[in-house]
Amino acid sequence: MAFIDDLEAAERRCVCGRTKRSCCTFRIMFVLFVGVYLAFLPLYSTTTTTTTTSRNDNPIIGILAQDLFTLVENQTAYIAASYVKFLESAGARVVPIMINQTDEEYRRLFNSINGVLYPGGAASIFSSGYQRSAKFFYEMAIEANKRGDYFPIWGTCLGFEQLLLLTNGVSLLTETDTRGVSLPLSFTQEAKDSRMFQGFPAELMDALALEPLTENSHRWSLAVEAFNATQALKTFYKVLSTNTDGKTEFLSTIEAFHYPIYGTQWHPEKNAFEWRKPYITHSPSAVQVTFFMAEFFVGEARKNFHSFASEDAEAQALIYNFSPVKTHKTSAFEQVYYF
Ligand SMILES: *[C@@H]1O[C@H](CO)[C@@H](O)[C@H](O)[C@H]1NC(C)=O
Ligand SMILES: *[C@@H]1O[C@H](CO)[C@@H](O)[C@H](O)[C@H]1NC(C)=O
Ligand SMILES: *[C@@H]1O[C@H](CO)[C@@H](O)[C@H](O)[C@H]1NC(C)=O
Repeated sequence: MAFIDDLEAAERRCVCGRTKRSCCTFRIMFVLFVGVYLAFLPLYSTTTTTTTTSRNDNPIIGILAQDLFTLVENQTAYIAASYVKFLESAGARVVPIMINQTDEEYRRLFNSINGVLYPGGAASIFSSGYQRSAKFFYEMAIEANKRGDYFPIWGTCLGFEQLLLLTNGVSLLTETDTRGVSLPLSFTQEAKDSRMFQGFPAELMDALALEPLTENSHRWSLAVEAFNATQALKTFYKVLSTNTDGKTEFLSTIEAFHYPIYGTQWHPEKNAFEWRKPYITHSPSAVQVTFFMAEFFVGEARKNFHSFASEDAEAQALIYNFSPVKTHKTSAFEQVYYF
């Protein structure tokens, strides 16, 4: 047995290097240590899988850049800074994922980062630089997760719609009257045992269900009716909440059954970081929603162990190489990174 071999080795070290008395103390302590270790062995080995040994405390998350719809000279893509702040607020660093890179470049990046966020916006989910990188990362993530390489994806608003399209292959979106309104969530029964809301305090769940803490600014939605009629979506995603514009009940929060893939039609990042629209809620509960969501997703990224090939490669990829700029007063965002 390994323990006995170790004990013998310890005794031999005593004989060579220590006085009898300290050797004896050492031996007693060692036996005690082994005893305590054995007593806690089953507990210890189960807890390690979810704590120290399997946690990445340097998570780096990619955010998809997206095509600019009004082209600015030499700038082809952007990321709203609120998504960066959102992830940074929970202890992640951010790497921008540029549009129109080679497959090889995306593959290298995928193997360097610990998760990906698809932000909201107005790029095409059928054909754009955003769509192409989203598809690439989605396919890589599915393949990786199947192999046991835990790689999470988060989609917000447009990113949520992109995820649904990637899963189903065909878009089923319907137009809804949701272009600028904060709503309370109508939780489904399944929200209770979701992964996403597990760490939310009960009072915050109550606030989410009663107060308008989730900002919606989308023209398109996936109706619950269409979801219910679509096997490919129903078997892939668990619906955690829905909302309605008064006419159409639509999906507002989802998580995949078997993959760490998550989406919200609403914007968790705005409550703490965007101030341009009167319908964004900034109450203490609203701001907590931002942070608990960020904490959840960054927690998912902490379960992935991809890393950059070198410190230099990491330093060159990080968002710190770019500076956000203050936007024109008509923008929906306070600050934006342009690329
Ligand atoms: C755009 O790029 C070209 C070529 O690199 C450069 O000459 C020009 O000054 C740039 N314009 C701006 C506004 O940065
Ligand atoms: C990026 O690719 C998309 C389609 O793949 C194309 O429409 C767009 O013009 C490209 N953008 C740039 C800046 O090359
Ligand atoms: C969708 O399916 C759920 C679960 O089966 C059901 O509770 C709900 O009433 C359905 N909604 C619509 C609009 O079909």
